[in-house]
Amino acid sequence: MPLTTLKDVLAAASQTRTAIPGFNIDNLEIPEAVMAAAERSKSPVILTIGQGAINAGQMLYLADVVRRLADQSSVPVVMHLDHGVSYEQVIQCLRAGFTSVMFDGSHLPFEENVKITREVAAAAHAVGVSVEAELGAIGGVEDNLIRDNRNLVDVREVERFISEVEVEALAVGIGNAHGIYKGLPQLDFDLLQRCQDLNPPPLVLHGGSGIPDDMIRRAIRIGIRKINVATELRNAFMHGLEEAVGKRDIYYMYRNAFDQAAALAEKKMRLFQCVDEPVHIA
Ligand code: G3H
Ligand code: ZN
Repeated sequence: MPLTTLKDVLAAASQTRTAIPGFNIDNLEIPEAVMAAAERSKSPVILTIGQGAINAGQMLYLADVVRRLADQSSVPVVMHLDHGVSYEQVIQCLRAGFTSVMFDGSHLPFEENVKITREVAAAAHAVGVSVEAELGAIGGVEDNLIRDNRNLVDVREVERFISEVEVEALAVGIGNAHGIYKGLPQLDFDLLQRCQDLNPPPLVLHGGSGIPDDMIRRAIRIGIRKINVATELRNAFMHGLEEAVGKRDIYYMYRNAFDQAAALAEKKMRLFQCVDEPVHIA
């Protein structure tokens, strides 16, 4: 099926009160494993190309892989830019055929985040591509994005932002962080509820790795419609390689890593309530 947009899959998720997984992909085998899980779970899926892959020069290759996987897929697939760092990078992704782009201006002064996100949205919407924005910089370490602050989003900024910029998804900082949490994640669900009460675009939870299942379910019940997962997926794949390295058989190693990554992805899909009932995109 052709690639679809973030707007379409999140609209369906809003109807079914579920969340769609956004998995970071770094090579050929990880997206293949994610798609195997998505087919089994009948789950729409967001294949995410982030700064790590882009800085490694993989953006165009991975875009071709995602396009081919989507063509063969029976479930909706979104090609998404994660934590876009500039207007120029977004334009490059639009040219490469992405159907969704995130501009992460959360570390910028509010007015500058609004200004650049508006420019990104004008370009993306002109070619039918969805936009994700961010407020309340997510802490932790991801793809060399290092932020040690635990920025809780300011609800007044959310109210202003959504009145000034039209986006299809909004990532908010509620105590979530990239990478593996030191101890139990301290998520501010009251803050998330106050953001949701503003009737914002579908909300996004970054730093999905390591958040306990009950917290994930509670966040979805409040209104989270997209959940990003990178670290747990990468670790599952690498664990699969490590387990099999003694065989000195590269295809056996990749197969084992594929199986571990697919199992993790399917577990997340079930948790995000994407299983069994295919989410029909109108
Ligand atoms: O942007 C990527 C995600 O927020 C991934 O976070 O590595 O903690 O799962 P994670
Ligand atoms: Zn993130």
